[in-house]
Amino acid sequence: MNSYSVTDSIQRAKELVSELGNTLGRVPTAAVITFGCQMNARDSEKLTGILIQAGFSIVEEESADFVIYNTCTVRDNANQRVYGRLGVCGGFKKKNPHMKIALCGCMMQEPSVIEKIKKSYRFVDLIFGTHNLYKFPEYLVSVLEQDGMIIDVWDKPDQIEEDLPVARKYSFKSGVNIMFGCNNFCTYCIVPYVRGRERSREPKEIIRECERLASEGVVEVMLLGQNVNSYGRGLENPISFPELLKEIEKIEGIKRIRFMTSHPKDLSDELIEVVKNSDKICKHIHLPLQSGSSKILKAMNRCYDKEKYLALAKKIREEIPDASITTDIIIGFPGETPEDVDETIDVIRQVEYDNAFTFIYSKRTGTPAAAMENQVPEEESHVQFDRVLAEVQKYAKKQSSRFEGRVMEALVEEVNENDPSLVTGRLSNNIIVHFPGDESLIGKFVNVKLNECKGFYYLGEIQ
Ligand code: SAH
Ligand code: SF4
Ligand code: F3S
Repeated sequence: MNSYSVTDSIQRAKELVSELGNTLGRVPTAAVITFGCQMNARDSEKLTGILIQAGFSIVEEESADFVIYNTCTVRDNANQRVYGRLGVCGGFKKKNPHMKIALCGCMMQEPSVIEKIKKSYRFVDLIFGTHNLYKFPEYLVSVLEQDGMIIDVWDKPDQIEEDLPVARKYSFKSGVNIMFGCNNFCTYCIVPYVRGRERSREPKEIIRECERLASEGVVEVMLLGQNVNSYGRGLENPISFPELLKEIEKIEGIKRIRFMTSHPKDLSDELIEVVKNSDKICKHIHLPLQSGSSKILKAMNRCYDKEKYLALAKKIREEIPDASITTDIIIGFPGETPEDVDETIDVIRQVEYDNAFTFIYSKRTGTPAAAMENQVPEEESHVQFDRVLAEVQKYAKKQSSRFEGRVMEALVEEVNENDPSLVTGRLSNNIIVHFPGDESLIGKFVNVKLNECKGFYYLGEIQ
């Protein structure tokens, strides 16, 4: 689809939204409800951009005239939450005959989900998947023109769409996709099946987007990919991720660069060097461990063992002492014993993570791990989970307090929700600090004295 037909469809959608407005006697409303990771959050900004251009007024309530759920399926509880929300939304639709309900995102790439919706949630008007989000303007037109369920889910992508309208959630920071999909096939993970094979965007397109964002006042970009360290491999003129970082650093208005996620198997010395020597690249590395047991890592197909991971973490701590290291850990992978969990705890003790996300293993149909025989009973996983969490929290507390008394630069993100006399800023290492200030500081950099560590955040004051 070229940008002409995107514009064309948005124009037609605009006419239809305006007609709907005449019928309702008010501006039609739309809500975008997002589950899952930063990639989904970025996709939702595109959905929102399209809805705004079509003339909807964006609201948060699921009683809106048009509601779209951008779904996640990485763990089963994400799916269950969508079904729960959908039940509530169906109730609203009974009271508003003009209401339309749409579903998109990762969960829609699973045929069993589509069957369930066709059977039990017949009031849904539109379903599409991860590979055809750029067709949303066309689908919107169809949904506004006709009744009945429209389903269009592709099993693979056909192109990388560059110029969709976007409505950014924050004026001063933005996610930027540098690649889509994943080739790693960790045995527990459904992402490669629902997001397709790894595709890198052309560096010139990424740089063009960052330059445009900078011209609009964005000072911080978060480069997004399932494994940013393998960026650039399939391109006609391959470039490495550190090389891309160096190019983005040259853009004047961009003051901070973050990235997510780094797979430990591909993290190079070159990357550590580039982060270390940069004033712009944030001192934060998210380095998912998943398990500290080499036996489990092998069964997970992570392509590194405990020793390799520890050596990498040690190198980062030595080379960039101010950097925070965060991680993801899965508990209850098939065959995991309490002794394997001891290995995970040993890694936590050695790396002393600044923070960690801990998840109980969730069986995803179609992945190799789902077919493994030695599944761990849920009660056992909970016992092990609590052990790991206690350890993680101990070190997170210790690590975040290591900056107490220092003056560090914070980017102010918002007025504090609980106390409007305070604002909330984020440090380069991703730690949050609350300090006296007002709305006028949002999007600005200020030097803040970190007076008191409160566990996972600081209380401070402007210096
Ligand atoms: N590409 C990233 C992770 C994306 S998914 C990486 O490789 O690090 C985010 C996190 O969800 C993963 O790091 C993993 O810890 C968790 N996760 C993925 N599949 C899971 C499953 N089946 N059960 C529990 N947690 C899972
Ligand atoms: Fe999933 Fe592994 Fe790919 Fe991350 S690298 S998205 S965990 S398959
Ligand atoms: Fe979920 Fe899809 Fe992200 S499954 S974690 S929203 S890539």
